Amino acid sequence: MKHIARTIALLCCLILGASCADNAESPMEREIRAMVKKMTLEEKAGQLVQLSINTITDNRRHALDTSAMREVFGTYRVGSILNVPFDAASDRATTAALMAEVQQWSLRLTGIPTLYGMDMIHGASYISDATFFPQEVNLAATFNPEHAAMMGQVTAYETRAALVPWTFSPVMDLTREAAWPRNWESYGEDPYLQSVMAVAEMRAMQGEDRDHVDDRHIAACIKHYMAYGAPRSGKDRTPAYVSMADLREKYFAPFKACIEAGALSLMVNSASVNGVPVHASKTLLTGWLKEELNWDGMIVTDWADVNNLYEREHVAADRKDAVCIGINAGIDMIMEPYDAKTAVLIKELAEEGRIPMSRLDDAVIRVLRLKYRLGLFDTPVWNVDGYDRFGCEEFRQASYRAAVESEVLLKNEHALLPLASGTRILLTGPNANSMRSLNGGWSYTWQGSGRPEYSAPYHTIYQALQAEFGTDRVTFVPGVVYDEGGQRWQQEVQVDIAPVVAAAASADVIVACIGENSYCETPGNINDLTLSANQRELVRQLAATGKPVVLVLNEGRARIISDIEPLADAIVDIMLPGNYGADALAALLSGRENFSGRLPFTYPRYVNSIHTYDFKVSEMSATMGGEYNYDAVMDVQWPFGTGLSYTTFAYSDLQVDKEVFSAEDTLRFSVQVTNTGTKAGAEAVLLFSSDEVASVIPDVKRLRAFRKVTLQPGASEEVVLTVPARSLAFVGEDGAWHLEEGDFSIGVGSLRRRIRCNRTSTW
Ligand code: BGC
Repeated sequence: MKHIARTIALLCCLILGASCADNAESPMEREIRAMVKKMTLEEKAGQLVQLSINTITDNRRHALDTSAMREVFGTYRVGSILNVPFDAASDRATTAALMAEVQQWSLRLTGIPTLYGMDMIHGASYISDATFFPQEVNLAATFNPEHAAMMGQVTAYETRAALVPWTFSPVMDLTREAAWPRNWESYGEDPYLQSVMAVAEMRAMQGEDRDHVDDRHIAACIKHYMAYGAPRSGKDRTPAYVSMADLREKYFAPFKACIEAGALSLMVNSASVNGVPVHASKTLLTGWLKEELNWDGMIVTDWADVNNLYEREHVAADRKDAVCIGINAGIDMIMEPYDAKTAVLIKELAEEGRIPMSRLDDAVIRVLRLKYRLGLFDTPVWNVDGYDRFGCEEFRQASYRAAVESEVLLKNEHALLPLASGTRILLTGPNANSMRSLNGGWSYTWQGSGRPEYSAPYHTIYQALQAEFGTDRVTFVPGVVYDEGGQRWQQEVQVDIAPVVAAAASADVIVACIGENSYCETPGNINDLTLSANQRELVRQLAATGKPVVLVLNEGRARIISDIEPLADAIVDIMLPGNYGADALAALLSGRENFSGRLPFTYPRYVNSIHTYDFKVSEMSATMGGEYNYDAVMDVQWPFGTGLSYTTFAYSDLQVDKEVFSAEDTLRFSVQVTNTGTKAGAEAVLLFSSDEVASVIPDVKRLRAFRKVTLQPGASEEVVLTVPARSLAFVGEDGAWHLEEGDFSIGVGSLRRRIRCNRTSTW
């Protein structure tokens, strides 16, 4: 009987994917459980605490502080350390040496390897000589998961090469609030796109075997669970109010996909959903993740968020109460990050029975399991000599290619672009000669500021345009300059437009690089999504010269430019394309490369009309009237998926293998895509579905599949897109999935196909 039960459980595991927890008989599980049996309560409590490296360093001496380490590891038995040492990146050799030292102290004083985690957000972004990629929003714009996979692979390799085994990435917050300052950290507003890209990155990061992550891979920490990207105020770490149906259908989707693909750890949303801080939600943490998905991974808090349960959210009376609530909700590790005495509170709570011993042991097992999976018990300090590919040409090329595919051409009147060789360019704007604004936050430092020497080997837009078009062809006059020395990234200190206007007289074209300086998290909050008044004035005065204007948008979120957009002949949104982003832009502007990026978010036109592409038909956007039908046009600046090319593509012959289907079917669509222009180009083919009639208001359309193809001029290819019929279902207010009988319209390009579900299914 027992045998049958276990076989059934194992079969369930296989069906559910790699993430399930029924491995109690494995040697790893046996060892972990035997170890936990022998641990003292102090030791167990310590394993659940994570501290910032700042608690064990002496910043004046730029070294580890041995007495602090004696306290942290010796007295409090702390199990994990995070963050970049000394508040800024160091090269990989320096980082590895420090990591080895921390590990040796942990082993000596706790007998257990520490678990070190660092935010490697677009490449190993806290290692000064590592390969940086474009930020996730750019990778989403490529609509090509190979780039996300490559970023995952390179990030893992170069992070391991610096003796770090764990990172707080990928980020998979659906970015549904245009002003939110962390939009650039994620793969856009759509759950399907987000899931595909995040799974590709995460799989490549962790490697093939989640139980044995080898020394070329690291553990991912998927974050921030969940609805973090939908704060009603648009400000970071503020409440989201989301229907339970949307929560399950959309926000949960990328997390579920990553967990089913083997995610080893997860970080929690700092804020609250529907009035409940996610760190206090047993339903969302234990219920949805650990029980429903049978997930055996580890849940870590975000920065100081257990403290926030009493300091900010007022759902706990004091610190101890907050720790109790968090751990009982399902938290396994507390990113404290400063006070090791949190371990004492955990111990007391266990002694008092407020945290059941079974919950405490479960959390300890999850922490130790991650350490085991990373091989830290066998090889706590590995040999970092053999990482010859660190920073190699292949990795750099991969970053450059991702940047090329990510930059989005939004407008190109009278085919102003590409610019012919010999064109005299007047380059202007605060972003034209800055590496910091190309990389954004999480680049050498948290805010991406203060370390220009690290990005000095790479090209700013000014340098890249000079290299592409000739030094004598490019004149740079900034017009507006950010305050690099000050604390406020938004501040513009120098506004001197007259010299730019004067210089326009001898130029053929004006390239204005506008947008934002780098920022991260709450320091990036804004009260007005509109682009700065100075920058808009710069564009206005330049347009008045009559010279053609190209706007280059270099920004972490869609700043509103509706008043200056009509003044520009061409517009390129480069978002945050990383260290090779300017080289990519120069090659695109000259036509040496072709554009193929598409917006992974909706670019708003008005501050009071913030929409996502999957709106309800009745969400009126026009100020007068409005067509309440599926062809109603939303009044946004650029819809999700917008992206032009130097060539043209024609779609024809949209076919489906089953016009009538039910939930068990997989639908196979095919469409013929032809390059009808004169240049080679790549096209991301997107397939959307619309549920014609549903028992709850259907979204106007939803992305269900995509594929990118590269075609030479005149070439044609049949593109096949498969859609599991179940993915056309929606979640009702009852929390269940429903695929209802009735018609669906499928759209690829401007082609439409009607299909019919012949049987209602609910699960
Ligand atoms: C951020 C996380 C990050 C953590 C550790 C927090 O402030 O919200 O995204 O992983 O810090 O640095």
